[in-house]
Amino acid sequence: MSLHNRSLLWTVALFTAVNARYVMYLTGQHNHVPDLSLVKDITHVALAFIRADVFNQDRPEEWPLFTSVDAVRSQFAPGTAVMVAIGGWGGTDGFSQAAATASNRKRFAANVKAMVDSTGADGVDVDWEYPGGNGEDYKLVPNVNKSWEVAAYPKLVAEVRSALGPLLLMSAAVPGLRRDMLAFTAETIPQIDHALDFWNVMTYDLMNRRDNMTKHQSGIIESLDAIDAYVDQGVPAEKVNLGFPFYVKWFMTDPNGNCNANPIGCQTLPMEDPSTGVDLGRAGAFCWADEVPSELVNSYVKAMSQGNYDSERGGHYYWDPEDNIFWSWDTPHSIARKFPAIMHTRGLGGVFAWGLGEDASDWTHLRTLTVEYRRYKRTNNKERKHGKDEL
Ligand SMILES: *[C@@H]1O[C@H](CO)[C@@H](O)[C@H](O)[C@H]1NC(C)=O
Ligand SMILES: *[C@@H]1O[C@H](CO)[C@@H](O)[C@H](O)[C@H]1NC(C)=O
Repeated sequence: MSLHNRSLLWTVALFTAVNARYVMYLTGQHNHVPDLSLVKDITHVALAFIRADVFNQDRPEEWPLFTSVDAVRSQFAPGTAVMVAIGGWGGTDGFSQAAATASNRKRFAANVKAMVDSTGADGVDVDWEYPGGNGEDYKLVPNVNKSWEVAAYPKLVAEVRSALGPLLLMSAAVPGLRRDMLAFTAETIPQIDHALDFWNVMTYDLMNRRDNMTKHQSGIIESLDAIDAYVDQGVPAEKVNLGFPFYVKWFMTDPNGNCNANPIGCQTLPMEDPSTGVDLGRAGAFCWADEVPSELVNSYVKAMSQGNYDSERGGHYYWDPEDNIFWSWDTPHSIARKFPAIMHTRGLGGVFAWGLGEDASDWTHLRTLTVEYRRYKRTNNKERKHGKDEL
């Protein structure tokens, strides 16, 4: 190797070492950004969302985003990457159409590049929930009708990468439950990885209304299972970001479900219509910036004051015996625990949260995540420097 290449390699290595990723989704629902002192560590902001179907038009005339890239840029430290997230929960038809044929994929990719050029973004986050099925419409369109998407998804992301070129950023938000990882196999993962700068593994909502037993929505055991599923099939750990929810989830438990004996792993009421998949109103979520729904205030107050940390599975929860409600959320303590338990043991390259403004009540979760991220970055750099000295 020439001297030039070697020093280039060191530059790249140092650059990576200094820049562990700290990614925040900024959403149209909660477009709140605190003072710069609280966000200066953030390395990437992903604006959520532009719908996927917008990019299937022949010549889209506008990019329906809740803000502008310039407006967002001015609220963060110089050098923070501002990306646009495409998709989100629901609306998978736009992605299905985009992926269906070679010419559709080309048109979609060219439009993504046109959007990036026109908005001045630094790249995109592809948030197809989910290729291969198990999306919002999973009861209406069976997964077998989407099995072709498993092979088409890597082709779509490859086409977008080719339109963006090597310098613009591209990431994907990917499912945290194995049952939803239909398109993420030992065969497809290396192809997808080739196109991406990093992976946002959605290690939250790991209990949702499709479950019938209580568990932690973002617990350590459940999160490790998600991370390992990707890493074992070929995603480099340093390209993985661990996801943190800045919101609380609640679920109605079955009064005869024996939750009294063990609130983790006990029976819930049915939470969605088994034939249509429609939400039955027995589970929900709200973020720290939102008002607590009035019918839940009593139970919520108890949860906040009497919640427990399950140190066996690594999740904070409360089960309300009067109202039969199971609550699951992250506290500063449970956020901090994930650094030794997940970030260090797996050597991950970054963290992200859904989403920044969702923590706008007092920014407690953001502050904790920042402190832990800084500590992680420091130890990581020390370890790498040490490794270099030994060479
Ligand atoms: C799924 O595919 C089958 C067989 O091709 C077809 O008959 C059916 O209409 C499809 N269902 C939906 C909802 O698209
Ligand atoms: C609970 O969910 C599991 C897995 O989805 C399913 O096999 C089982 O039949 C469900 N049990 C009840 C009581 O609904």
